[in-house]
Order: sequence, then C-alpha cells, then structure tokens
Amino acid sequence: MSHTVCLIEGDGIGAEITAAVQHIIAAAGVTIDWRPCLAGVTALEKTGSPLPPETIAAIKETGVALKGPLATAIGKGFRSVNVGLRQELQLYANFRPARTIPGVKTRYDNVDLIVIRENTEGLYSGLEHIVVPGVVESLRVITEKCSRRIAIFAFETARKYHRKTVTCVHKANILKLSDGLFLDTVRDVAKSYPDIELNDCIVDAAAMKLVMDPTQFEVLVMENLFGDIISDLASGLVGGLGVTPSGNYGDGYAIFEAVHGTAPDIAGKDMANPTALLLSATMMLKHLGETDAADRIESALLSVLQNPATRTGDLGGKLGTSKFAEAVAEACAVGSSG
Ligand code: NAI
Repeated sequence: MSHTVCLIEGDGIGAEITAAVQHIIAAAGVTIDWRPCLAGVTALEKTGSPLPPETIAAIKETGVALKGPLATAIGKGFRSVNVGLRQELQLYANFRPARTIPGVKTRYDNVDLIVIRENTEGLYSGLEHIVVPGVVESLRVITEKCSRRIAIFAFETARKYHRKTVTCVHKANILKLSDGLFLDTVRDVAKSYPDIELNDCIVDAAAMKLVMDPTQFEVLVMENLFGDIISDLASGLVGGLGVTPSGNYGDGYAIFEAVHGTAPDIAGKDMANPTALLLSATMMLKHLGETDAADRIESALLSVLQNPATRTGDLGGKLGTSKFAEAVAEACAVGSSG
C-alpha cells in the first residue's frame, strides 16, 4: 500500500537527515509518495512567509507530515513555526518516549519513560505585551478543555503501552489557579481509568527524581513549558537530543519530528545523526499502519548502533550521515529477507 506524506525538509541538517530517512524507509519496502512542503527560513526566502498557507493546506489534506528542524531567531523575527504548526493544526499532544538504546552509553541502562506535553497553550500562547518600558507580561493560559484532552491522551497512552501509572507534573502549590485547574482536571479524567494509578509531583521535585531514579516513573503528563523542559531532561537520560523522537498528535493530523534543532555547526558536512528523525519516522509508520516495517527499521537501527564502529560522530563513531543510513538500510533489507 502506498501512503502520501508531507515532507518538510527544514533548515540546517534537515536536508541530510530527511534524505537518510527516506532512503531507509524505501529500503524497508514501504512506498511513500512524499509531498515536499516549505516551512521555516527556506519558506521565508522563497515565499515571503515562514509558514505558507499551502503547507498547512497540504498537511490538512494528507493528515500526516514528517518534519526536519526549523531555525527560529531568539528574541526577534517571526513567531516560531513549530508553535504555529501545532496551534494551526491543533496538534495538542506532544508524545516523547525516552528509552534506553542498547549500546548507547548513559548513566542508566533501563530508562523507559513517556513524556506527554500539552502543545497548544500555557506560556506558548504567545501572548506577551509591554506594560510600561522595562516591564513585560507573558500570559500563561490554562483551560479546562485543553487540560482534559491532554489528560485523556495520557491515560489512553498508558493503556496502549501497558503502563500502570500516570504522573501529573505541575506547580499547583504556587500557581494555585492555573496549575490547580490542570491538576484537578487530570484527577477528574483519572476517575474514568480505574486500571491506571494517578500520581502527582511538583515539577522541581520531578526534575530531581528523574535524575536520581528515572525508573520510578512511567507516563508523565504536564503543561507546555514544563513538558518542553522535562522532555529534554528525559532525552538526556537516554543519550541526548540526537536519539530522541517525537510525535505531535491532534484529532485529525499528526506531525513527526526529531526534537533537536538545525545544528548549524555541522550542517552540510555529512556529520548529522539521523537516528532521532528515523525513530520519529518509525512512529509515523506505526501511525500509518506499517507496524512490521517500523519494527524492522527499529531493530536494524539498534543492531547498527550496537557496533561502535558503525555509529555517527556524536555517539563516538566514525560514520557520516549517508554511510550510517546505508548501514541501517542494508540491515533492514537483510532483516526483511530473513
Ligand atoms: P541544536 O539541537 O540544533 O544543536 C545543539 C547541539 O547538538 C549542536 O552541537 C549540534 O551539532 C548537535 N546536534 C543536534 N542535532 C544533531 C544530530 N542530529 N546529529 C548530531 N549532532 C546534533 O540546538 P541549537 O543550536 O540550540 O539550535 C539551532 C537552531 O535550531 C535554532 O534556530 C533553534 O531555534 C532551532 N531549533 C529547532 C527545533 C525544531 O525545529 N524542532 C528544536 C530546537 C531548536
């Protein structure tokens, strides 16, 4: 069966890692009609808009996109395209698994976490204004509607992945109204999931506990900013941003992307590790019903990463992006014939 998927190459290392992933997916025998879409700096240069309406329309038509990283200027310039995409398409749930990769040396060898981040509100609502010169207010919006849908997503995820607990991470001791509403709503949703235990943890304590012993958590759910920070912390427990995938899900659409940025320091040098985007693509393949191919790619990737000689430079190996992709593609093909 063939699938149509929007492809946003992105900026910096985007072209190299998306080419690597396309090559591996084809080697695994999945036919995808890739529909190239523009976003980010490339889109701005070519169309005058960092997020052209054609890109939103194409994703609405296909329902699915694979996205490379996009450059965003700090403190000036256009609004983050990532935030724009999530809000325009109401991709309210950011799903970030952080799982130990055998052979990738980290502090722990048994991490298996799922971080669920609310993706559309909180401080990322982008509502900022200057009260008087020298004083700025940023509004942190929490609604019952968005808290409820992310809580349902978290409990459904726990069921789907056979986890027994969900932990709501919050700061309701200080942010009594906003995080109080978030926590109360998660507690209310939990009543419909008697098979899953709900715990809660204040965000600063959660950060400490994750570093001390990540095995005490299974699924963690939180609002936008806390999710941004805690999910990167979880990445650090399993080898960093270069190996961490993510999926952004809404009711009608889904976008899969690596969590790292455009890596301008290594762009165009055939040095980037495509692992995070590849793992995001396997999440996409599962979303499309291509579970066998996704499993085959994952085991091919794990076998290639097991051997220090066939890793990319960031993981201590010597392979460039294209040679690494070739090694995974070959392992996929071997796996499929065996
Ligand atoms: P970055 O993630 O691009 O780079 C941080 C460090 O990690 C660099 O040393 C880089 O070489 C390395 N790195 C990142 N991905 C790698 C990979 N796949 N393989 C090997 N090494 C890798 O973060 P930075 O420098 O803070 O951001 C650069 C740009 O990316 C900024 O414009 C930022 O806004 C954007 N960005 C975009 C994201 C997205 O589109 N999802 C996420 C994070 C940042």
